Amino acid sequence: VTPAVYGASDRPPRGDYSRGGAVLADYTCPQDWASYTPADHDTYRRLYERQVAQLPGLACDAFIKALPSLGVKDRIPRFDELNERLHRATGWEIVAVPGLIPELPFFTLLANRKFPVTDWIRKPEEFDYIVEPDVFHDLFGHVPMLFDPTFADYVQRYGQGGIKAHDLGAGEKLARLYWYTVEFGLIRQPDGLRAYGAGILSSVGELKHAVLSDEPRRLPLDLLRTMRTRYKIDTYQANYFVIDSFKQLFDLTEPDFTPLYESLEVATDIEAGVLLPGESGKA
Ligand code: PHE
Ligand code: FE
Repeated sequence: VTPAVYGASDRPPRGDYSRGGAVLADYTCPQDWASYTPADHDTYRRLYERQVAQLPGLACDAFIKALPSLGVKDRIPRFDELNERLHRATGWEIVAVPGLIPELPFFTLLANRKFPVTDWIRKPEEFDYIVEPDVFHDLFGHVPMLFDPTFADYVQRYGQGGIKAHDLGAGEKLARLYWYTVEFGLIRQPDGLRAYGAGILSSVGELKHAVLSDEPRRLPLDLLRTMRTRYKIDTYQANYFVIDSFKQLFDLTEPDFTPLYESLEVATDIEAGVLLPGESGKA
């Protein structure tokens, strides 16, 4: 089965979605920890080591604080072991999935405080760049942020809102909000701009590009603006949206989006990297 996947590109996803019947209706499956090879664990270890070295001054405080909670860094963590800490901290748990999954099951897992984590890891020749999320992106990028109580609540609300958006035919627009917050969000800390988005935090090159480079546009997070903006899946982002705090993010997204979806139906899309009149791009 090659399901239409969330965050889709034009290729079929590469995971094995049958696994001899081990994949359940909600797309979760057991993490087949025993099948990782020593080379797989070594890939994880080297990715972790390279990435952790460049976090200071670029990753947000919440991420740096929670990173040790992932546990082992020299091999791929066991999800059930990690879940003992995560569940105690924020009531979230991670569940294994074969790869990208369709919109509705994705939203439904999040609404139930279950974060889908792809269990396979990239091949050594994909060390620097991979198009689909793998276990390194999902664990290293996403899971530390789920230890932050406010952010963790935001992601659950996002899932609940996603189910509604799906019914209203607005799933694709709402996906842009996920992209520009959970995946590629920037936060203004008292000591400067930092990354909280998993796509940035798990990327060796994008961290500096997102936080330090003069190239990309940076805009204050605005719901309508963000959900009108297309995104690139195969290059560094041409624009980022900046928040001041996770509380601000939570409060901003708390109101009913139904009227917003109506406005979006008649609004035109904005290409990534394009500024509208009056925008400086230097949030
Ligand atoms: N408040 C949104 C709605 O009514 C749901 C939502 C919450 C969406 C948080 C995204 C993030 O649809
Ligand atoms: Fe991701």
